Amino acid sequence: MPFAPGDASKGAGLFKTRCAQCHTLGSGEPNKVGPNLHGIFGRKSGQAKDFSYTAANVNKGVTWDEQTLFEYLENPKKYIPGTKMAFAGLKKDKDRNDLIAHLKEATA
Ligand code: HEC
Repeated sequence: MPFAPGDASKGAGLFKTRCAQCHTLGSGEPNKVGPNLHGIFGRKSGQAKDFSYTAANVNKGVTWDEQTLFEYLENPKKYIPGTKMAFAGLKKDKDRNDLIAHLKEATA
């Protein structure tokens, strides 16, 4: 299933309830349990400043974009075996499309 542009305002709500306890999105915001995601599009996995990643996350070596995030967020532990991101995944394609539309805006 390919990524398709979603509803960023719905995605903002999903981010708040499913991701915000562990991630920030804005420039200069702190890492939490997970890394700050500012500038994530076009960047290789495992490169946020001052965040202690697992080797699995770094060595995945994927470039994050709409499609790779779409695949990752369905089942992070399957996409990156050994990741410490404790998140089961967003199973609905539409939820991932909406969330990624929000990420694209909020991490730029
Ligand atoms: C319980 C905390 C937690 C939740 C909830 C969580 N994450 Fe994470 N996330 C992490 C951690 C920890 C890592 C680093 C994993 C590693 O190093 O193995 C991570 C890594 C990532 C990465 C890879 C970053 C990089 O630089 O390679 C992305 C993208 C990401 N998370 C997005 C999300 C999104 C979007 C959500 C919500 C749908 C989410 N995460 C929910 C903790 C969390």
